[in-house]
Amino acid sequence: MCGIVGAVAQRNIVSVLIEGLRRLEYRGYDSCGVAVLAGGEPKRARSVARVADLDEQVCETRLEGVTGIAHTRWATHGAPVTDNAHPIFSRNELAIVHNGIIENYETLREMLRGKGYEFISQTDTEVIAHLIHSLYHGDLFAAVREATGHLHGAYAIAVLHKSQPHTVVGARQGSPLVVGLGEGENFLASDALALAGSTDRFMFLEEGDVCELTLEKVRVFDRDGKPAERDVRQVAAYGGAVELGPYRHFMQKEIFEQPRAISDTIPQSDVFDASLFGEGAAKAFEEIDSLLVLACGTSYYSGLTAKYWLESIAKIPTQVEIASEYRYRDSVPNPKSLVVVISQSGETADTIAALKHAQSLGHTHTLAVCNVATSAMVRMTELSFLTHAGREIGVASTKAFTTQLVALFVLAATLGKLRGHISAKQEADYIRQLRHLPAALNSVLALEPQIIAWSEEFSRKENALFLGRGLHYPIALEGALKLKEISYIHAEAYPAGELKHGPLALVTEAMPVVTVAPNDALLEKLKSNIQEVRARGGQLYVFADADTKILNDEGLHVIRMPEHYGLLSPILHVVPLQLLAYHTACSRGTDVDKPRNLAKSVTVE
Ligand code: F6R
Repeated sequence: MCGIVGAVAQRNIVSVLIEGLRRLEYRGYDSCGVAVLAGGEPKRARSVARVADLDEQVCETRLEGVTGIAHTRWATHGAPVTDNAHPIFSRNELAIVHNGIIENYETLREMLRGKGYEFISQTDTEVIAHLIHSLYHGDLFAAVREATGHLHGAYAIAVLHKSQPHTVVGARQGSPLVVGLGEGENFLASDALALAGSTDRFMFLEEGDVCELTLEKVRVFDRDGKPAERDVRQVAAYGGAVELGPYRHFMQKEIFEQPRAISDTIPQSDVFDASLFGEGAAKAFEEIDSLLVLACGTSYYSGLTAKYWLESIAKIPTQVEIASEYRYRDSVPNPKSLVVVISQSGETADTIAALKHAQSLGHTHTLAVCNVATSAMVRMTELSFLTHAGREIGVASTKAFTTQLVALFVLAATLGKLRGHISAKQEADYIRQLRHLPAALNSVLALEPQIIAWSEEFSRKENALFLGRGLHYPIALEGALKLKEISYIHAEAYPAGELKHGPLALVTEAMPVVTVAPNDALLEKLKSNIQEVRARGGQLYVFADADTKILNDEGLHVIRMPEHYGLLSPILHVVPLQLLAYHTACSRGTDVDKPRNLAKSVTVE
């Protein structure tokens, strides 16, 4: 989703800004732009193509400056056309870039029109530009602080004004923004990653902060308008651009990285211990009587899977909710419930808002399962468990999902042990099974050629049904989500027992029905569901554990999973579904890593 970069320096910073945008490209965008103060005036270049095109433009026009801001935009208000691309100007004196959504932009626009401001774009951002301009009396920092008092909604902004040639002002509320500290130069970005190569010292701004960057100094005021100190953190882990290597897309690379990602996420320790979740976890885990899991999309499905583990291994009641629903409904808060947020990015606006909502209702015990150590969610929660998937570039989440599953299994086993529900032998067995997962995953990945053969059939379809039962119902949901988001084939998932309550009416020869069939307690029930589909001429594509005795037949296509993996089986069964979606999308020629309309990091509501 939208990305911001800003810089104040004594050298030409256009290449720093463009490189920053390149590093943010993975978040997804549909236009981009850069503005600098050149010869005392703001000058800009904008593109509705890629950052590479913007780079060509700035080279051709020799755009140069020591103070500048840049942006990748994911359209919300107004189509992705040049006029709506950021930076947005106000009267050729002020330039702004903005992430987020201003909810009261219509009221503000009318007020500003009344003051004679002309609106050129359809963006809500132009309202902020004119608002700050209208409040500017020689002090940009003061004008931005005053303007933020009038804004409702979420934003991260970076602003410059022609009368202050060595100043960039930033503000955040609901969208992330970090300050990068240099020597005689300072930077601003929506993600520390954007500034790799320029600095490794960062200040993570807090909600409501407004900051002023000049060559030598950074000033921060908090939401109450008081000067504030923010810790400076060394973040050295951000290396160079991630290479694709022998793979065709990042998604394929990330699917094949799962054995490594999982191995890095499995705790080194030979026992499940509360300390894996941070200081104070043992006390917190003792005080809780239930779990409330909040997440979106794929991360929500990992939460749904975890519910089975938490209730069966730890015998702890677990409720899993879509973050964007929870935040707006009247729930009955239970302060003894541990709130678990699950997120790859740690910056998903809906999940952050749901966490804040839970905290406002009196939930004090909170845990983030997250892939980004410096993210807002990790900073906002009492406890955390980091997944070590590494950077995930493909918009469709793969290795983040399986590493979340590992983290949540470890949570279930830890709580199960603390609550006296697992024996020392069971604990040792779980540890052994976790350690064997990377090898088991490698055998699943070896199924790729068989899956490619199926994907050619799928690429000619427009609909698909996914079935699973129990622990594997969320895996069916995840398989359907993967297929629809990258191949644009309509796909739905059902718990297989629900088929006869409606969806069976859809089953014809034209409808592929993908079934996840582990050899578990529900296998015989699932086999009956398979027969229901076959009897109606449906085409079944079954990922069956080797010992299920489900065999290839008329209308029944089977790929054998190498081994049955008990409670951890969802981690293996999701992988062929990822590969099926990936290869189907490749056959259909879609933009796999950047599917249409989607963004990697969903930082707006
Ligand atoms: C789907 C996908 C999304 C994300 C969702 C939450 O492949 O990636 O559904 O899972 O947007 O994102 P995070 O996990 O960053 O909070």
